[in-house]
Amino acid sequence: MPSTQTQIAGFSFDNCLMNAAGVACMSIAELEEVKNSAAGSFVTKTATLEPRAGNPEPRYRNVPLGSINSMGLPNHGIDYYLDYLLDLQNREPNRTFFLSLVGMSPSETHTLLRKVEESGFSGLTELNLSCPNVPGKPQIAYDFETTEKILGDAFAYFSKPLGIKLPPYFDIVHFDQAAAIFNKFPLKFVNCVNSIGNGLYVEDEAVIIRPKNGFGGIGGEYIKPTALANVHAFCQRLNPSIQIIGTGGVLTGRDVFEHILCGASMVQVGTTLHKEGVPAFTRITEELKAIMAEKGYEALDDFRGKLKYLD
Ligand code: SIN
Repeated sequence: MPSTQTQIAGFSFDNCLMNAAGVACMSIAELEEVKNSAAGSFVTKTATLEPRAGNPEPRYRNVPLGSINSMGLPNHGIDYYLDYLLDLQNREPNRTFFLSLVGMSPSETHTLLRKVEESGFSGLTELNLSCPNVPGKPQIAYDFETTEKILGDAFAYFSKPLGIKLPPYFDIVHFDQAAAIFNKFPLKFVNCVNSIGNGLYVEDEAVIIRPKNGFGGIGGEYIKPTALANVHAFCQRLNPSIQIIGTGGVLTGRDVFEHILCGASMVQVGTTLHKEGVPAFTRITEELKAIMAEKGYEALDDFRGKLKYLD
């Protein structure tokens, strides 16, 4: 039977699938549901220092080829997630989970990271540099100068395994510039990609979500080619010590196969998890294993990053 086991930053996971931050991860009940599913791990909703109500509803809609959202980082605040993770470490010492966070300013981001550094948390931290939905706050990782400054300041005191969640980039020069910055730091992973920011979905004569007059992050089937391009572009450019988590457009085992072929070590499921619930992890894992068995692959390493080019 093929294995979908994987590793990130030296931590082992029984399965390479997990939720994408934002889906099934706001409350402890949702996180427990993902933990108890076929997923290999979970990531929390991106935490800020204080709880946030987020943007007005309706702020998330499934649409035929994916989803649009402008949630605006609703969350229960860092202490809620950190306390739960610390408790979970005692209950499940052999498993590793991800804590997502970002501040409403660089200074708040450092307060959050210092809190994690000083805590007993021994899992993986994902710094979300890519939320497109907070009015007046641009996606941080589109500003290379600010990104480099935040990472430089963070690594002066942060010694735990840290990765970053990235927005999609669309230009080869931007892949080059972003990778050159990321390669300066002891990052453990980059997560490609967050939603494609600020799309518009129109039904009849109106937008379908309330915040920002309908502008929102696009997920699902629409974004797989962009996600794969980002995974592969960073696989080609980053130091081998920086692993890649692939996120975007995962509906089937074939989609996971493609993310891994492009270089991902772990793959996150967002819109499909929202549409289907945690049984999606079992279905997608079985589909991936069937593809691996058919091709004679026993482990993800047999095909990870081995995307073929045409001559
Ligand atoms: C949100 O809460 O607006 C979505 C989170 C994200 O895109 O990072």
